[in-house]
Amino acid sequence: MGAPEAVITDLTRRVADAQSIVVFTGAGMSAESGVPTYRGQGGLWKNFRAQDLATLEAFDRDPALVWGWYRDRRNKLLEVEPNDGHRAIAEAAARIPVTLVTQNVDGLHTFAGSTDPLELHGNIWREHCTSCPATSDKSHHWAEKIVEAENDPLPECPDCEALMRPSVVWFGEQLDARVIEAAFKAAEGCDLMFVIGTSGEVQPAASLPLVARRAGAFVVEINLEPTLLTDRCNTSLFEPAARVLPRILAG
Ligand code: OAD
Repeated sequence: MGAPEAVITDLTRRVADAQSIVVFTGAGMSAESGVPTYRGQGGLWKNFRAQDLATLEAFDRDPALVWGWYRDRRNKLLEVEPNDGHRAIAEAAARIPVTLVTQNVDGLHTFAGSTDPLELHGNIWREHCTSCPATSDKSHHWAEKIVEAENDPLPECPDCEALMRPSVVWFGEQLDARVIEAAFKAAEGCDLMFVIGTSGEVQPAASLPLVARRAGAFVVEINLEPTLLTDRCNTSLFEPAARVLPRILAG
């Protein structure tokens, strides 16, 4: 079973006619790659470590513990691949005007070939210095399958030797202003938005579909089940993203 052909045909036509499309993704986008979501069945937040470790306080208290947890998450990502949904978005963006906005930190959109996604919550493969503006990108670890030991020496800044930290947004931290502003601008200016695999529980990201809808866009949700955003969308398809996206976005 899947969405009826007539629904897919209507969406395919909307994609072809759109002047500007925003694809907005959450953890459900990567579920079929084998990355656990945060909420819902098997959600990561049920794991006590997540709530305790994704904060600046935890990092300041015990950076080795927090780095060990992020290294473990990176190592698990070495075992997964982008899915057909990630690939369909990357391929579509090469043909049509798509802005990709993601809450995911796993890097899978980029590994599927998407260029410059707006990563609202950062990226687990990037690091930045806790003291100076230096940054570092370890995305090649995924391509080269480089396993990190949880107790490897902590990464030091190549410029000032201070501690590096993962470039993800922790509880209580602000999003990167340039990234969130670009995302809201894209939402205001699009005529079609896909809202994929997000529970809509985390702000300010969850406001993007509302902003798009208010500005006149047609907003399509793709999820396994109704969410906080369902009533705000024009239509919702309740089926796995990796299965339905290739049907909608095929050239
Ligand atoms: P959630 O874990 O809150 O929600 C995942 C959503 O994906 C749920 O609504 C599921 O029903 C849906 N889902 C699961 N499998 C799916 C599939 N195969 N196809 C389509 N949908 C599927 O994830 P997010 O909404 O992304 O923030 O969570 C938002 C933020 O909460 C995360 O970015 C993270 C967390 O705090 C930070 O790390 C700052």
